[in-house]
Amino acid sequence: MVLKVTMLPGDGIGPEVTTEAARVLEAVCERFGHELDLKHKKIGGVAINEFNDPLPVDTLCSCLDSNAVLLGAVGDPSFDNHPVNFRPEAGLLRLRRELGAFANLRPALLFPALAHSSPLQPRVVAGTDMIIVRELLGGLYFGEPRGADETAGRQSVINTMRYSEPEVERIARIAFDLARKRRSKVTSVDKANVLECSQLWREVVARVAADYTDVKLEHQYVDACAMALVARPASFDVIVTENLFGDILSDEAGAIVGSLGLLASASIGGPVGLYEPVHGSAPDIAGRGIANPLGAILSVALMLRHTFQLEREAASVEKAVSETLDAGYLTVDIAPENTRPVSTVEMCDQVIERLE
Ligand code: IPM
Ligand code: MN
Repeated sequence: MVLKVTMLPGDGIGPEVTTEAARVLEAVCERFGHELDLKHKKIGGVAINEFNDPLPVDTLCSCLDSNAVLLGAVGDPSFDNHPVNFRPEAGLLRLRRELGAFANLRPALLFPALAHSSPLQPRVVAGTDMIIVRELLGGLYFGEPRGADETAGRQSVINTMRYSEPEVERIARIAFDLARKRRSKVTSVDKANVLECSQLWREVVARVAADYTDVKLEHQYVDACAMALVARPASFDVIVTENLFGDILSDEAGAIVGSLGLLASASIGGPVGLYEPVHGSAPDIAGRGIANPLGAILSVALMLRHTFQLEREAASVEKAVSETLDAGYLTVDIAPENTRPVSTVEMCDQVIERLE
């Protein structure tokens, strides 16, 4: 099979982790007899600096002409005072929209070797294996109107949370379909005691559930869910929620399983899948060669599974990651004190060595 992929390293630690993830992808292609057609393009702060645009046309065209996109991270403190549509993050948000990637899958799995890195007690975190299905193209991130409210006297700004029935329905179906392949439980997270958007959300999710009588559905308010995540993380299977809630809860899930650096994501639903680690650009450690590449490497596994339907290849990457951790290779974010952490590159070498 020919795998046509555009790689967008982006800012901060993005280039370091995607370089390693691309090495894994190359190794998989070599071992399983596929051909990799990989192009590199710019996004985020580096694209603003060079092209005055966080998502240059050439980058977008290359993405639309690929089967899948592998992204590192966007964001840089030097743009902190820029208007939101001229920040690195705006490039990523536009890319998600252009790709029609409405469903963001964020698995959070506790690797047994990492029970020590979770801030939770081992007996609480044991068995944690959830997937957050985050709606990615709606809610406050994209709702109109937004920006300055000229009608108000003093400086005043608006953001709009908006959801339509079809938007909720399509993400709910993704969640239920996923649950069927897992432990058949969906937790729908909302704030239906306060927000009309959430009331519609709850109603539509409940309606979709009627088509999935084999899947158990529960509703949770987002505040209660934030608490339940740390109190009993192993009780979750599939969590489905709107854009901002999903953004917040997935960082929490990252900490629970030991490090945000481990979390991968797949943004699907459109013609081209977008794969990126959940972590950000981490400017504080950028360029030091110590970032955890596993979030990016596991994103490659998701790409193999969801865009290319290469389940054996995906499972081989995940198994290699798990075995690397079992063997005690740990980057600084997950290494216990008084042990020598491995570098970004060493970690990847160890994963590649264990690929089947
Ligand atoms: C994420 C990130 C992005 C988001 C930012 C960089 C725009 O935090 O993917 O979780 O908020 O979606
Ligand atoms: Mn986030």
